[in-house]
Amino acid sequence: MKTLLVTGGCGFIGSNFIRWQLATYPDVEIVNVDKLTYAGNLENLVDLESDSRYQFLKGDICDRAFIEQALAERPVDAVINFAAESHVDRSILDSGPFVQTNIVGTQVLLDASRQAGISRYVQVSTDEVYGSLDKDGYFTETTPLDPSSPYSASKTAADLLVQAYVRTHGFPAITTRCSNNYGPYQFPEKLIPLFIANALQDQSLPVYGTGENVRDWIFVTDHCRGIDAALRQGKDGEVYNFGGHAELQNIKLTKTLLDALGKPHSLIRHVEDRAGHDFRYAIDTTKAERELGWQPAVSFETGLQQTIDWYLAHRDWVERILSGAYRDYYDQQYGGRLA
Ligand code: NAD
Ligand code: DAU
Repeated sequence: MKTLLVTGGCGFIGSNFIRWQLATYPDVEIVNVDKLTYAGNLENLVDLESDSRYQFLKGDICDRAFIEQALAERPVDAVINFAAESHVDRSILDSGPFVQTNIVGTQVLLDASRQAGISRYVQVSTDEVYGSLDKDGYFTETTPLDPSSPYSASKTAADLLVQAYVRTHGFPAITTRCSNNYGPYQFPEKLIPLFIANALQDQSLPVYGTGENVRDWIFVTDHCRGIDAALRQGKDGEVYNFGGHAELQNIKLTKTLLDALGKPHSLIRHVEDRAGHDFRYAIDTTKAERELGWQPAVSFETGLQQTIDWYLAHRDWVERILSGAYRDYYDQQYGGRLA
């Protein structure tokens, strides 16, 4: 696994993955293909620009000629597909870009990777493909796919394409499904960085509905370690779930964040619920533990403190995002709710 072609490497998890790979494996070389959508930020990898093992290619995974060329220009050992439209709320406002990038983009990558004879392909997917749990139970790799949002439906469609290429063409693909990530460089539309940013500005924290919905939080480098384990030790055609063993109700998490930041609970505003809001996600990680020797290593307390410290130290990074086109999305998403 010398040369990896990573897509979506300028986003949250992709940038953490690239930094972790280069820090962990001295001989690895990474080509990062990213379209630089609103969520892609060259600043996330600015520290690696002078690293001769790292190369950035601006481009769209839906652009077949561009992807074919990227794979023809150099020998690539594996493709890891992070590129996606990733935010559920945006998929409710407009599902078009989700269908395009998450489904068509995956199809293009599968075809081009197959044509180039790539020996390993990793599809970075999500636990949201399994739908919603009630108070009990866990998602395993054999839980039926039952997506609720346009985002999760598009990720499910991509997973099924990967499965079809494995079964039909014997294509050497692996699919990973992970729970909610948090950590440095997460775009401040997602719960944890959004609420940190709002709290620091003494603005309301919009909790959807009752706030009793549960998510399982995993520190981003634990997810990166899991993807790496699947890449290097996983079996062709398999699916591996990753989770943080840190289930929390949104309202509890919100109060924990406010306490950690020394801000009052009166900033909490219960607003109209998310349409089709999944109640609970929880992951059974037995397979990854048994077959990949993987376990999450960062406790929620440690990871959350590191995350808060990072956002406090990078207020300028957040500021640059908040002052750009993101403002329009925020007004569209929350204007009516917080009015
Ligand atoms: P993100 O939104 O932070 O980053 C997505 C990246 O993909 C951006 O850099 C963007 O510019 C790029 N991109 C989007 N469309 C593209 C296209 N057509 N061509 C090339 N690049 C494109 O997302 P993230 O949170 O880092 O998630 C990365 C992957 O992990 C996604 O596939 C997501 O479904 C999956 N995932 C995320 C989580 C989570 O909690 N964030 C959990 C499980 C799985
Ligand atoms: O589970 C993995 C998924 O986690 C990934 O596939 C997605 O890419 C990622 O965005 C994330 O999806 P969620 O919808 O769970 O994450 P989000 O941060 O948007 O929301 C987390 C919870 O917080 C969810 O129950 C909705 C709630 N929420 C979110 C926002 C943005 C609020 O109450 N208020 C908010 O303003």
